[in-house]
Amino acid sequence: MSTIDLAPPRQLPEALTGKASPSPIQFAFTKKTGAHANHGKREALSGVQAQQTLNELLTQTKASQQARAIYIHIPFCRVRCTFCNFFQYASNQQMIDDYFDLLEQELIAKSRYPWTQARSFDAVYVGGGTPTDLSPQQLLRLGQLIHRHFPLSDNCEITLEGRLNRFSDDKFNAALESGFNRFSFGVQSFNSKVRRAAKRLDNRDYILERLSQLTASNQATIAIDLIYGLPHQTQENWQQDLQDVIDTGVHGVDLYQLLTFGGSGLQRNIDAGREVVPLDTSDKAMMYQQGHQFFTQQGFQQLSYCHWASDKREQSCYNSLAKQGAEILPIGAGAGGNINGYGLMQSRDIDTWRAGVTANNWAFEQLSLPANNAQLKAAITSACDKGRIEASLLPEGLALFKHCQVLFEAWQRNGLVTIKPTQVALTVAGQFWSVNLANAMTQYLQMYPLTNN
Ligand SMILES: C[S@@+](CC[C@H](N)C(=O)[O-])C[C@H]1O[C@@H](n2cnc3c(N)ncnc32)[C@H](O)[C@@H]1O
Ligand code: SF4
Repeated sequence: MSTIDLAPPRQLPEALTGKASPSPIQFAFTKKTGAHANHGKREALSGVQAQQTLNELLTQTKASQQARAIYIHIPFCRVRCTFCNFFQYASNQQMIDDYFDLLEQELIAKSRYPWTQARSFDAVYVGGGTPTDLSPQQLLRLGQLIHRHFPLSDNCEITLEGRLNRFSDDKFNAALESGFNRFSFGVQSFNSKVRRAAKRLDNRDYILERLSQLTASNQATIAIDLIYGLPHQTQENWQQDLQDVIDTGVHGVDLYQLLTFGGSGLQRNIDAGREVVPLDTSDKAMMYQQGHQFFTQQGFQQLSYCHWASDKREQSCYNSLAKQGAEILPIGAGAGGNINGYGLMQSRDIDTWRAGVTANNWAFEQLSLPANNAQLKAAITSACDKGRIEASLLPEGLALFKHCQVLFEAWQRNGLVTIKPTQVALTVAGQFWSVNLANAMTQYLQMYPLTNN
């Protein structure tokens, strides 16, 4: 059997190749094409058909041999940050308590499926919202439930996401006692002026001190998120943010580019002239470059285009599995998951979620069918995320790699990659545009598929 292809033209559209410019990191594309690689709209099942399909999947006693994860969502925040699209509900003790009780029921019910018990989980991520707003008792209980009901691998990464605000020693100790071994705090910026404008609670001194205490205790992996491009950020205060990462001793850091969207508090403030216009993409590109250079000089290990680790304990396993298209069991209102390639997004509305969970344990509205070429798309996303496209990690290996040569050569001419015989390494500019490159390669292969005959 030989491999032939629909020969792509020598001249590809700029949307795929980026454009030639003296500063590719700033100008190769005009805008990031989304927070994550976009694999297009998928067909979906709903109603009884969706529930039946899911039940068939979950009664399987044979699980895939791939690493997999659990995602548990806590949709409450004390204050809505101006830039954020994840906010669902304002924290209210009664609501959190009621939510927690039903979450417990959902967790136990989902743990009982043969699929769940068929293989151990390699990562658990409790995200939000602000899971650190749970009480010490709830954190203790949640960790215990996870350990009691799910098969976990020996070195399973169990992350609690949230923020440092009111994250007391009682909460930290309760989470540690019940087996959380990684904490991911959204810091966004250490700078007090930037924080105030974004409606972040607490000032720089508090954040520095609390983070230093948590890392000094040396009891768990501590990672933080920073955002670049927020109003009032400058090259100078961003450099100070980067230095603060070192001074607090955290084990991992994500650098996220600010994405703005209509309807956010930030956009409303800008439109009403109450807030300065945030930096444009070319300025944000320079901040990314500054961060990249800084952590490289500091000897941090780069785990993805936007994540650096100072310590071997930090693996960022959940994020990496999510980008590889691994199976993820979703629990909670607004949790997203993937079971055997079927995608499900649970209802964000707590009442709808409650009704679904009470009726049949599941609260999703649609079950998306596995994407066409899901394995290929996940391989591309994961490769671009890690900054290296290796022929051996692509389905159809070298044949597919060679088939993409025209695209890779265009990227190389535009300063986005360096081509080697069996791999393509993304330059710093290419890494900044990693999501665009992943989307471009996926689109290229849709336009010019590699066909076997
Ligand atoms: C779901 S949030 C939860 C974090 C936590 N609640 C907090 O307040 O820090 C996870 C991360 O998404 C990132 N994020 C939120 N909105 C963003 C935006 N508009 N652009 C880029 N990153 C954003 C932030 O860095 C945040 O830490
Ligand atoms: S950044 Fe965190 S605390 Fe702020 S609104 Fe988003 S999820 Fe809530």
